[in-house]
Amino acid sequence: MEERRLGPVVGLGTWNTFGGDDELARRVVNAGFAAGCRSFDSSPMYGEAERSLAIALDGRRDDSIVATKIWTPSTRDGQEQFARQIELFGRVEVEQVHNLVSWEEHLPWLEAEREAGRIGRIGVTHYDPGVFGELERALASERFETVQVPLNPFEREAEERILPLAAELGVAVLVMRPLGQGALLRRGPSAEELEPLRGLGIETWPQALLKWALSDDRVDLAIPATRSPDHARENAVAGEPPWLGPDERDLVERLAGA
Ligand SMILES: NC(=O)c1ccc[n+]([C@@H]2O[C@H](COP(=O)([O-])OP(=O)(O)OC[C@H]3O[C@@H](n4cnc5c(N)ncnc54)[C@H](OP(=O)(O)O)[C@@H]3O)[C@@H](O)[C@H]2O)c1
Repeated sequence: MEERRLGPVVGLGTWNTFGGDDELARRVVNAGFAAGCRSFDSSPMYGEAERSLAIALDGRRDDSIVATKIWTPSTRDGQEQFARQIELFGRVEVEQVHNLVSWEEHLPWLEAEREAGRIGRIGVTHYDPGVFGELERALASERFETVQVPLNPFEREAEERILPLAAELGVAVLVMRPLGQGALLRRGPSAEELEPLRGLGIETWPQALLKWALSDDRVDLAIPATRSPDHARENAVAGEPPWLGPDERDLVERLAGA
């Protein structure tokens, strides 16, 4: 098994952003890549995002981590989704069972693909704390190496239930919705309010939120999504130390109004 840690780093999510817009994907991925972003999360559920991502990563696959998903109750359809991913990406570094859909049925063939070297790690995702009991059961099988859950100052259920279990089992944690799907950015703090965080490499409110998530040492990868090359650059920079201590994390929570 590869070493547990994938980070702490900032990656790039692809839900609801460039879809099948290959040129936009290229510009966003290029900007993120130039700023150090190397991990990219996608899914067959995100329209044509996988295809656009593959085109944008062409020639850079040795230096990138693709975390994508299998999203179907049918193992046969899942294997077809995987065959397409292999055509697009050559190999899948992190293959996740999306929303726990038929996870017990998918695991045997995913494990065979990992054995064959076409998958690096097998993971599982869910966005809804109401289903964390089932997510805990999946992790307790000790057959997953990554888990993806929401985490931001307003969505902290994973801290109680999923993060401790992941740390205990040596499972890497990917954070979806680190910016609350953009909702946490609508009324950001002023430059003055961010001043105490500047010494920690934080210039902007999105960077503060990303560092907040990554400063929990049980978290590996935050995957903000964006359609903007400038935002991709700004976000990637937040994946570098120094990290926030408890007081600075408290401050970010207060600034978020949580
Ligand atoms: N949401 C879910 O339920 C879910 C489920 C499974 C997996 N995921 C994965 O997690 C990824 C991230 O979650 P998410 O896309 O739901 O939400 P998110 O990353 O928390 O927020 C995305 C929003 O933030 C804005 N944004 C990003 N960087 C910004 C910046 N520097 N400045 C200003 N605005 C910025 C984007 O708008 P701009 O385009 O204007 O930058 C976009 O509207 C997904 O793309 C997907 O890969 C999500």
